[in-house]
Amino acid sequence: MPEYCVTGGTGFIASYLVKTLLEKGHTVRTTVRDPENVGKVGFLWEFNGAKERLKMIKADLLEEGSIDEAIKGVDGVFPTASPVIVPYDNNIQAAA
Ligand SMILES: NC(=O)c1ccc[n+]([C@@H]2O[C@H](COP(=O)([O-])OP(=O)(O)OC[C@H]3O[C@@H](n4cnc5c(N)ncnc54)[C@H](OP(=O)(O)O)[C@@H]3O)[C@@H](O)[C@H]2O)c1
Repeated sequence: MPEYCVTGGTGFIASYLVKTLLEKGHTVRTTVRDPENVGKVGFLWEFNGAKERLKMIKADLLEEGSIDEAIKGVDGVFPTASPVIVPYDNNIQAAA
């Protein structure tokens, strides 16, 4: 069975991909920024097949090379992780 990597497993689209791939019997590697944060990643371990075929790998796209281990040797990558970068802007004011 092929093995796939889904980046940003906690995301809206990514978590459905992880769930579907596991249900189809695939092995899934998913990247998360904080694998120890049960509040954020715990639901992924509840998916059918997760305990047997889900691998969770710590990675941050803003750190060069961080994702290399997660994608090495897999049959396909679903790059759904998406950093949100908010530029500094003098016109943005803090809420009162
Ligand atoms: N949802 C839609 O309807 C829709 C439609 C068209 C296109 N898209 C695109 O599809 C992609 C995913 O959308 P989504 O709605 O699933 O997004 P989402 O729920 O906001 O998920 C984004 C994911 O990116 C991860 N992430 C954020 N910064 C990261 C970083 N620096 N390094 C690694 N991971 C990081 C988050 O992980 P943490 O848990 O660590 O924060 C989260 O899992 C985005 O590019 C979006 O623009 C979405």
